[in-house]
Amino acid sequence: MGLGYLKKYLLRYRRQYIAALIFITLETFGDLIQPTIMSKVIDNGVKRGDMDYVLKLGGLMFLITALGAGFAITRNIISSKVSQSFGADLREDLYIKIQSLSLENIDEFQDASLITRLTNDVNQVQNFAHGSMRIFVKAPILGIGAVIMSFILNPTMALIPLGLVPIVIVIISMNLKISYPIFTRIQRALDKVNAVMREYLAGIRVVKAFNRFDYEKDRFRKVNEGLKNITLKGMRVIAVFNPTVSLTVSIGIVLVLWVGGVRVNTGNMEVGKIMAFVNYMTQVLHSLVLMTRILNMFIRAKASSERIREVFETESSMKVKESPTAFPNGQGRLEFENVYFKYHNNSRWVLEDISFTVNPGETLAIIGSTGSGKTSLVNLIPRFYDVVEGSIRIDNIDIRHMNLDDLRERISIVPQKVLLFTGTIKDNIKWGDKNATDKEVEEVAKIAEAHDFIMSFNEGYNTYLGQGGVNLSGGQKQRISIARALIKKPSILILDDSTSAVDLITERKIRNKLKDYLKNTTTILIAQRITSVMDADKILVLDRGKIVGQGNHEELMENCQVYRDICISQLGKEGVSFGS
Ligand code: CTP
Ligand code: MG
Repeated sequence: MGLGYLKKYLLRYRRQYIAALIFITLETFGDLIQPTIMSKVIDNGVKRGDMDYVLKLGGLMFLITALGAGFAITRNIISSKVSQSFGADLREDLYIKIQSLSLENIDEFQDASLITRLTNDVNQVQNFAHGSMRIFVKAPILGIGAVIMSFILNPTMALIPLGLVPIVIVIISMNLKISYPIFTRIQRALDKVNAVMREYLAGIRVVKAFNRFDYEKDRFRKVNEGLKNITLKGMRVIAVFNPTVSLTVSIGIVLVLWVGGVRVNTGNMEVGKIMAFVNYMTQVLHSLVLMTRILNMFIRAKASSERIREVFETESSMKVKESPTAFPNGQGRLEFENVYFKYHNNSRWVLEDISFTVNPGETLAIIGSTGSGKTSLVNLIPRFYDVVEGSIRIDNIDIRHMNLDDLRERISIVPQKVLLFTGTIKDNIKWGDKNATDKEVEEVAKIAEAHDFIMSFNEGYNTYLGQGGVNLSGGQKQRISIARALIKKPSILILDDSTSAVDLITERKIRNKLKDYLKNTTTILIAQRITSVMDADKILVLDRGKIVGQGNHEELMENCQVYRDICISQLGKEGVSFGS
């Protein structure tokens, strides 16, 4: 029923859980015995003026209360610890699960929703784990116990609390039925708020630059209102049902007082007993209110737990073979054979019939207008996405047959959109290989033409980068990103437009240094500038997902119109002589 997968987490803490259950049981028994003792104090002690008796039982009541308080405190400490650890475990597993999902899966869930699931949804489940002890133990024991105790006091009058129980159960189940779908909607509304907020924060510079704050504000207001409205709806359900339960029980109390009053008058019952009865009724009420509150928590947790389970049950759309082969120890010959690819939500091919070969140590350049599919093409190599048709082979082995970790370990990618992490420059470069020495870090930084600017900072390699590397320029970030890819010493290196923000002279320096450093590395280089690609061993010209030209610079100038057009538009007619 959706919560089953949580069992293993609770079982992990079963000892503490059982201890907490024992404490709460003792605490509840303490509560249950109090009204009876009190009735004795009144009927036997006060009425007869027996001060000794009053003091003795009063002392007993005090002792029970003190013990109960002690039990309650211990139970609370234990159950907080259990529920917090439970939540942390769940969050961690969920985090690991998300990491195992393919990009396609993640696109489908959307990251904002994954964040809500990781935070708010886990919290809901955790709160319930904390409250669950009270529902499973305290509420039933208190409720049933109070009814039994009133039977012992006076069987006929006990019919009143007994009669109330079915009525209240009906009210509570109606409440749950109505509010469950509302809670699911609340979580979804929360997803939307998170999505808008994330997008706004990620694009805050653009929003400011375009002065679109009003637009963003409206967008935010809309989802925020949505969240408010649906939450209010949920609150209203609770607001109606909780007092209804109280009202029902209060009617019972009035009945007890009335029937009891008549009986006291006729001498059939003692005042202390009536008082005890009212106390037990209050306990029944307390147990029912507790139950409603925690059941509400329960369905909220259930709605959340469904959302968490959905992630756990999603199988990565990336199929990994049962017994994958290791990454070939060859030299990194890369082959695409009749590759077709599209994103799952896209009906048209993003790549069509792509075939080419890059020999070990060679450099393949890819050029083509924006949106022509260059990034999509290289994303297929580390299997961020899988081909729809055709195959990609490295040293004659289909990449789908390889161990995925191995594959990614041997491929380095400098993504088009640079992503650096909070930490020092050194940390960021060492991300590619955490065992790298400082000397190695410096070496790759020099190749990426990053060493000089890094040294110009006061802290050098220990300069701290803010989130996403905000305190660096675009070109500086790109160079760190290149260094990070190089330190991995990959078999295949992919540079996706990774010098776009670097000036031409620096770019040429990087290119020359790379050429020496990458003698044995198969390199794929995407660029918009013709000067960046013209001295590659082979150039692919992509146009709307298709290869329209393949060959070296001279060959393409001869026989590829698109290439010639790009060349002339960037370099003029004499551009050809620019070759380095
Ligand atoms: N696309 C998509 N879903 C994505 C990424 C891209 O549907 N998650 C589509 C784009 O709409 C585009 C096509 O795939 O039409 C190719 O995108 P891409 O490979 O990113 O193009 P590039 O050639 O890399 O473009 P650019 O030079 O601008 O980087
Ligand atoms: Mg791109």
